[in-house]
Amino acid sequence: MRIAEELGLRVSPRLRVVALTGAGISLESGVPIFRGEGSMWEIPEARRLASRAGPPWNTRGTWEYYEWRRGLVSRCKPNPAHYALAEMEEYFEDFCLITQNVDGLHSRAGSRRVLELHGSMWRGRCLECGRVIELPETPLKALPPLCACGRPLRPDVVQFGEPIDPAVLSSALAACRSAELFLVVGTSAVVYPAAQMPLIAIESGARAVEINPNPTPLTPFMSLSIRGRAAESLPRLWEELLSSASA
Ligand code: APR
Repeated sequence: MRIAEELGLRVSPRLRVVALTGAGISLESGVPIFRGEGSMWEIPEARRLASRAGPPWNTRGTWEYYEWRRGLVSRCKPNPAHYALAEMEEYFEDFCLITQNVDGLHSRAGSRRVLELHGSMWRGRCLECGRVIELPETPLKALPPLCACGRPLRPDVVQFGEPIDPAVLSSALAACRSAELFLVVGTSAVVYPAAQMPLIAIESGARAVEINPNPTPLTPFMSLSIRGRAAESLPRLWEELLSSASA
């Protein structure tokens, strides 16, 4: 049976689709994940640099850690899973991409509207005047980089315990409440509020599909769990959905 049929969905550009991504979607691009096998903490340099990063986050130590991550990501390319999501945005009239990733790979794959729950490593934010500044170049000329007001910037990334931008959060929650199909790709689903989002969508009537080589706390709630790698399984799922639309 076709997946759409199995899910009880009719695929057309009017289907309301939300995708939530986590670090696993970028693993096959070469960006390490945060937990488990293949995680960043298996790299001694990452552990050493991260130990010197910390509040108020506008310090040289923090930026040395982020420059290491930015350098790593700048050498990576989006993979077929990122591209599949960019294609979905083109096809579906009401498509929302929510990511926990700060690596910017969705935008590099062509996704135009990305709700970056945890911010972006490619921007800095001033603790003094609040300006947010694009920092696309790596390595940076000076660490920490400075704001136009002369103060040091911090990475525009949400750290543990910090609030998510309310506008980003409310757009994400609104999309969750109206989704008909919710895709959960490459997240361990242990960090909130992201981990709650698929449940909100399911509660509101969405069918949910998880793509992850490993089970997660969300697995029991899914309509379908695909045990596979995002770069293979997501384009295959997308192709499958599209083929049932034209049938
Ligand atoms: N394809 C899809 N998923 C994969 C792949 C793959 N090829 N390889 C691993 N995974 C899965 C893992 O099984 C795991 O469930 O990706 C998930 C990665 O989990 P985490 O490293 O915990 O990443 P994430 O869920 O995005 O973490 C959330 O925690 O520290 C933070 O702020 C950071 O945004 C991050 C948040």
